[in-house]
This record gives sequence, structure tokens and C-alpha cells, in this order.
Amino acid sequence: MTKILAIETSCDETAAAVVVDGRQALSNVVATQIELHRRFGGVFPEVASRQHVLAIQTVIQQALEQAGVPHVSALDAIAVTHGPGLAGSLLVGVNTAKGLAFASGLPLLPVNHLEGHIYSNWVALPGQTGEVPEPIFPVVVLIVSGGHTELILMHGHGRYRQLGSTLDDAAGEAFDKVARLLGLGFPGGPAIQRAAQQGDATRFDLPRPLMQQEEHRFNFSFSGLKTAVLNLTRQLEAEGVNPQDPETAAHIAASFQEVVAEVLVSKTLDAALTYGARQVCICGGVSANARLRTLAQERCAQAGLPLYIPPLALCTDNATMIGAAAYYRWQQDPAAVGDLGLDVFATL
Ligand code: KG4
Ligand code: ZN
Repeated sequence: MTKILAIETSCDETAAAVVVDGRQALSNVVATQIELHRRFGGVFPEVASRQHVLAIQTVIQQALEQAGVPHVSALDAIAVTHGPGLAGSLLVGVNTAKGLAFASGLPLLPVNHLEGHIYSNWVALPGQTGEVPEPIFPVVVLIVSGGHTELILMHGHGRYRQLGSTLDDAAGEAFDKVARLLGLGFPGGPAIQRAAQQGDATRFDLPRPLMQQEEHRFNFSFSGLKTAVLNLTRQLEAEGVNPQDPETAAHIAASFQEVVAEVLVSKTLDAALTYGARQVCICGGVSANARLRTLAQERCAQAGLPLYIPPLALCTDNATMIGAAAYYRWQQDPAAVGDLGLDVFATL
């Protein structure tokens, strides 16, 4: 049995977890900074790294306690996200992990945050009920988060082929920017989802980006869609309609959310059918979106494709996924341990 303490501080969540054999978390502690960043309307990097410094010790202690681990020496390795992310935020996790590895003599396992999101699909939270699948390769994975939109074909553990990605904004970024246009606050994803519940998704016709161009079959683009929403709000204003009025904002939010869900699901399914995927997984913060989840379930069921989307707590940033990714990477390559000179890579 391999017990890994994982640490994640790439953005605005300070997180630690103890994960057994890459499949079962014994603890999953997340201290979110959302309230702190709300007044800036987005993540303020300097504030984020300072808050990580304040929170990390407590978060790690809680993760160890909840997992019944009396001391780090009872573990097998320390895993940490070393990129991509905000450099100042990453540094806090990496330096803490180095300190623990140095003091305990345990191996230090550097993890790519995106590989972490991928492994969020195959690991169980503490006390999670219901079946958590194992990967059945080839798998097509869609990662949709605040910083990334990636379509990936996986032929085995650690064997990735990038099929496509966003040419401009990430899907989560688009949710955040459109929410700002509609005066819905930060973070934008949950705010848009809430507003959209009262809206009619067919009220406004928004463009479906990159749905027709063969060379961009598996790529995404959300910046034009955001501009289309901006133009729509200006047009409404010119007609004397306030786009931030709750009813109008609800219709815009619903129309926007529908287009994003449609584009993400269509391209993922197209990739899955083209490459003969035996499993489809969707992960990252935006995979918490209820409309995206429902649409993906409907379309995959129609196509006879097994779909898995993790529970909400594993969609947004967490350390359980980092512990899972670390385990499989370490299994593939036992020499892939970091030394105490490990650096952070904001654009890994
Ligand atoms: O994966 P994540 O927690 O952090 C990154 O690695 O970026 O993703 C955060 C993103 C934010 O843009 C947030 O607005 C979006 O995920 N998000 C959602 C929802 N919950 C979070 N987007 C749409 N619908 C949601 N329910
Ligand atoms: Zn993330």
C-alpha cells in the first residue's frame, strides 16, 4: 500500500490530501480563497500566494489527521504541483513539500496540474459512495478549467496525445468574463449557472465557434463568443434594455452556457468516435457545470459511449487528484522523483 501526501497550491485553493495507491483518498482538505478575491473580481496573484503561506500548515495538518497519519514518516512520498499555475502560489506548495521531503527523507514527486485534473476521474474521495471507474484505454479526456481547455487522447498511463486546445481563452475564463459583463460576480461559472436557471437558452442566438473549420476540428475558441456577448449587451443598451437586469441577464447567461456546453460536448464526442475511445472523461472546474454534465450524459448515452465526470469536489482544484497522478507517474517511472532543487513552471 502506497500512501502519498499531496499538496496543491497552483491558483487560489490551498489543498492537501492523503491518497492510497492512486485510487482512494483518506483525506481531502481544501481552503478556498474565493471570498478574498471576490472584491478584485478575479484571482489577485500576490494576495493568493500570501494566503497560501498563511493556510498551508493547517491544511496539511488537517489532511494528515483526517487520514489517521500520525506523522509524515508514516507516508511513502510527498507529491506537489509544480506547474502550470501562478508562480508565487506554486512556490508555496513546492517549498513546503521540499521541506517535508528533506526532513523526512521521503521521495518528492512533482506533478503537472493538468495531469492531476485527468486523474481526478479515477480516484475516490473519502467516504465516496458509488463506483469510481478505472481508465479503459483509449480514453478521450476533456479538461475544462479556468486556465485550460484541452482535448486529450490517452493510450495508457502517462501516454498522452493532445488532440486540440483553445486558441485563445479557456472555457472557465469565458464564464468568468461573461459573468463580469452581466454583473454576476466572481467566480463566473457558478454565477452564470445560477442565473441561467431562470433564463431561456434560445432567446439569443450566439455564434458556435470553430464548429465548421476542419483544421480546427478539435480546437476551441471562446474569445469571439465573449465579444459576441459584449456586442449583444451594447446592442441591448442602445435599445434601452439594461443587460444586467436579472431577467435579461438570465437569458444571456442561459444562451451563452448552452453554446459553450454544445461546443465542448460536440467536439469531445467527435474525438471519442474518431479515435475509438472506450471511455470519455470530462474534468476541471467547468465540468462542475450542470448543463454541461446533462448534455454530455445525453449525447454519450445516445452514442453508446461510457462517460465519467467526477463529483463536484474533484472538478475544482484539489490535492486528491495530485496524489492520484503522482502515484501512477511514479509507478511508470520510479526514477521520476524531484530533487530538492525542484523549481516551479508557471507555463509547464
Ligand atoms: O479547475 P479550476 O478550479 O481551476 C483552474 O485550474 O483553473 O477551475 C476554475 C474555473 C473557473 O473559471 C470557474 O468559473 C469555473 O471553473 N467553474 C464553473 C463552474 N464551477 C466552476 N464553470 C461553469 N459552471 C460551473 N458550475
Ligand atoms: Zn485546475
